Amino acid sequence: MSHNINVEIDYSRMMSDAVGNEHGISDAEMAQIASRKPSIDKWLSEFRGAGKADNPTTFFDLPDKTEEAKLISDRIGELRDKFDTFVVLGIGGSALGNTCLRTALCHPFHNRLEAPERKGMRVEVLDNVDPDLMAGAFDIFDPERTVFNVITKSGSTAETMSQLLFATSWLKERLGDRWKSHIIATTDEKKGSLRRIADIEGIETFIVPGGVGGRFSVLSPVGLISSAAAGIDIVELLEGSAAMKSACEESSLEKNPGALLASLYYLAGENHGKHIAVMMPYSQRLRDFADWFRQLWAESTGKRWNLSRSKEVYAGQTPVKALGVTDQHSQVQLYIEGPNNKTITLFSVEDYESSVTIPAEHEYIDDLSYLHGRLFSDLFAAERIGTEYALTAANRPNLTISIPKVNPRTVGELIFLYEYVTAYACLLYDVDPFDQPGVELGKDVTYAQMGKKGYDKLLATFNESRNKIRARKFRDA
Ligand code: PA5
Repeated sequence: MSHNINVEIDYSRMMSDAVGNEHGISDAEMAQIASRKPSIDKWLSEFRGAGKADNPTTFFDLPDKTEEAKLISDRIGELRDKFDTFVVLGIGGSALGNTCLRTALCHPFHNRLEAPERKGMRVEVLDNVDPDLMAGAFDIFDPERTVFNVITKSGSTAETMSQLLFATSWLKERLGDRWKSHIIATTDEKKGSLRRIADIEGIETFIVPGGVGGRFSVLSPVGLISSAAAGIDIVELLEGSAAMKSACEESSLEKNPGALLASLYYLAGENHGKHIAVMMPYSQRLRDFADWFRQLWAESTGKRWNLSRSKEVYAGQTPVKALGVTDQHSQVQLYIEGPNNKTITLFSVEDYESSVTIPAEHEYIDDLSYLHGRLFSDLFAAERIGTEYALTAANRPNLTISIPKVNPRTVGELIFLYEYVTAYACLLYDVDPFDQPGVELGKDVTYAQMGKKGYDKLLATFNESRNKIRARKFRDA
């Protein structure tokens, strides 16, 4: 059955006949992993069912929410008359999808264009608390023309909440009582400090569905609002993801792109020692897709305990983002001659927004004649194919994901594909895709040092254990 998807996956070079038995996957391994599919499907369907009980939505349901997307587009369309700059305050899963969509689907220099040339508002994503970033960003914002979308599912993340405090004070100083109409909150329906603030102050809110984890939330209001602000067609984005969802419901492994890709990454890691997953789009637009994937893959697969928490497994693959062709001059030497411990996923795009010819200038230099009159897209493709060839010749397993064009539909397909791949791969590893217990201690110690109530005991333990470590430092005398 056709699902009308545009994504193609060429995984020939992941297999043993291309890169040898030591590094490549055999047909027997594929058959063996396919036999695990029914149990993974069962877990996924139970998770989706469980999500319904106390949570309105899981990430599987987001592609179907086109009516909500239309409402978001309409509402944000109204804001576009009033504001010129849309600033996301958020971090992790509340930020990366926003950046990914803006980079993929807007003009490469969107924020620098003047209004008539821009499809929508300028979109800035502030996902750090570095004081130079904060001060620098607020130096350039015009309070009258700027609206802030504070995104935090928990409603309590220190980085985001500190940014909100800063933005509130900055707006109050400049706009007085009008500050409230320059802030939107995207958060849980009932819980968290941001929800309380929004209710008390009467700030407009959008809801992060309860069952959707941060890094799986880009297709919810978390990623859709800033995209609508930038002028991206978010309904088409969801339509693409819905088509991919339908393909990922296929029961056979070869017909299900998500299960297939997840199985390849898992087998490469577990059976062939490829514990690093490089994502290298040959597309400037997909550069931040690789960054979004990096968080998704790292926080989801990287786990100490198995799903039932009965066994320590220390699972995971380290995601690395790279960019074709830029990183051919930075990373590829390592990928080809360094440790053979990676899979390299390349992305190829057939058509670009622009067709740009390399002019036949300086014709007296014969050495450059091969470039004269050729398209930049030909050079780009030749470099990707060259890298695929060189990797394969060095027995480095690699695969290529192709799309006809980077547009809302294909990006929607890719996003759902990789969300599904991540959930499926985690279940092959027998770890929970949706939690991140490893980040809690660092967060708590931050709270303790900053004097948050209830963290006194942890502060004492922290100070005591730090004092036990013998100090060894280099400091110029
Ligand atoms: O994937 C996750 O759940 C995390 O990366 C969160 O997105 C991140 O910690 C931010 O959390 P919150 O949206 O609650 O501020």
